[in-house]
Amino acid sequence: MSTFGTLFRVTTFGESHCASVGAIIDGCPPGLPLVAQDVQTQLSRRRPGQSNLTTPVRVTGTAVSQRRDEKDLVQLQSGIEHDITLGTPIGLLVRNEDQRPHDYSETDLYPRPSHADWTYLEKYGVKASSGGGRSSARETIGRVAAGAIAEKYLKLAYGIEVVAFVSSVGKVHLPSIVGPPSQVPNDDDDTVEDVLSPEFVALLHTVTRAKVDSHPTRCPHLETAEHMTKRILRAKDASDSIGGTITCVIRGVPPGLGEPVFDKLEAKLAHAMLSIPATKGFEIGSGFRGTQVPGSKHNDAFAVKPDGTMGTKTNWSGGIQGGISNGEDIYFRVAFKSPATISQAQETAQYNGTPGTLSARGRHDPCVVPRAVPIVEAMASLVIMDQVLIQNARKTAASLLPPITTLPPTMIKPPTHHDHAVEDKPTV
Ligand SMILES: Cc1cc2nc3c(=O)[nH]c(=O)nc-3n(C[C@H](O)[C@H](O)[C@H](O)COP(=O)(O)O)c2cc1C
Repeated sequence: MSTFGTLFRVTTFGESHCASVGAIIDGCPPGLPLVAQDVQTQLSRRRPGQSNLTTPVRVTGTAVSQRRDEKDLVQLQSGIEHDITLGTPIGLLVRNEDQRPHDYSETDLYPRPSHADWTYLEKYGVKASSGGGRSSARETIGRVAAGAIAEKYLKLAYGIEVVAFVSSVGKVHLPSIVGPPSQVPNDDDDTVEDVLSPEFVALLHTVTRAKVDSHPTRCPHLETAEHMTKRILRAKDASDSIGGTITCVIRGVPPGLGEPVFDKLEAKLAHAMLSIPATKGFEIGSGFRGTQVPGSKHNDAFAVKPDGTMGTKTNWSGGIQGGISNGEDIYFRVAFKSPATISQAQETAQYNGTPGTLSARGRHDPCVVPRAVPIVEAMASLVIMDQVLIQNARKTAASLLPPITTLPPTMIKPPTHHDHAVEDKPTV
């Protein structure tokens, strides 16, 4: 469906070439200071035409190239007065200014291979006339707009920061993620650094959006970013496309978020991330490579931190244990496939089964990851926001009861540690 979240509920609307796209948020706390620019900053990081790496180029029958010129200016429709949220539904609207229905004439005949044309038609029996309709990345405008509002609340109420960055394009990886290649697989080698290097862990602690945005690829490592640029341009020049991965870190999350067993925090994050168009994979913490390390090295031992809070010495868990945040940085990686629409000729079949050649025209991204960075941040913010509201509801309900005096002490959280858990934060 088009609604995400339990207490912070976001419904997105709109297709690639309809009048407008956007979102309605129900459940935003009242009293949040909010102006359009809070939302616009993230929308502008998502919009098409930011650089020659992300710009969908429109190639018409007369070979004229033209960018899809969308400014993606948001209008705050409701739920806010005098720059303060009212607690009522917030309407966010962005007009599709450069919509061109029937832009993709070949795709009237051909479902694009690995796009959503065929499955949408099979499911609904009708489909939008062009541009992928609801499966278009323009749908993500509503998510990014709503995510920016969630993010503002999380920042003000908890100091939570969400930063995503491009960690690979094709076979070009941030070196600190992949580590030195092993020439010969060695069963005796249990080196932890090959899984997640100290440089990568440091990057997670320090990376900022300003650093991420200092290169058009949104990779915070300049040398790797230059290699990525070449790889994307090679795909573009060949009328082809290429995939990549995005890593996201969420800093400052209090312990206690996540709803076991089916709504574990990592399950919610995976759900959110895999709902983004073109995603093909998700890993939390040390992920798939963590399986190469024995438990003796992979376990995150507990320790009291300098500020008196309980924490872990390492963080291979990615900030989540038992589906519940443990107060460490949450980090995860999302895989995005090579975009389906390419102008290279492809042998395929028409809707009616006739074999033929499709050379898709229109405006397409050669690689989606630079533009998908704010989308990943938005979905992460929506998940954390929803879980904060849920945990606060539980804590508030429990706090109204008389203190527990009848249970053995081992069953109750010891009061000795300075705890920066949710209950210490203001509930709204
Ligand atoms: C930021 C962004 C931009 C995208 N741009 C394109 C594009 O230009 N061409 C294309 O074929 N797919 C593009 N996609 C992906 C499609 O929306 C998606 O692959 C398609 O709907 C099929 O869905 P699926 O890949 O999730 O199965 C983009 C995705 C994102 C996140």
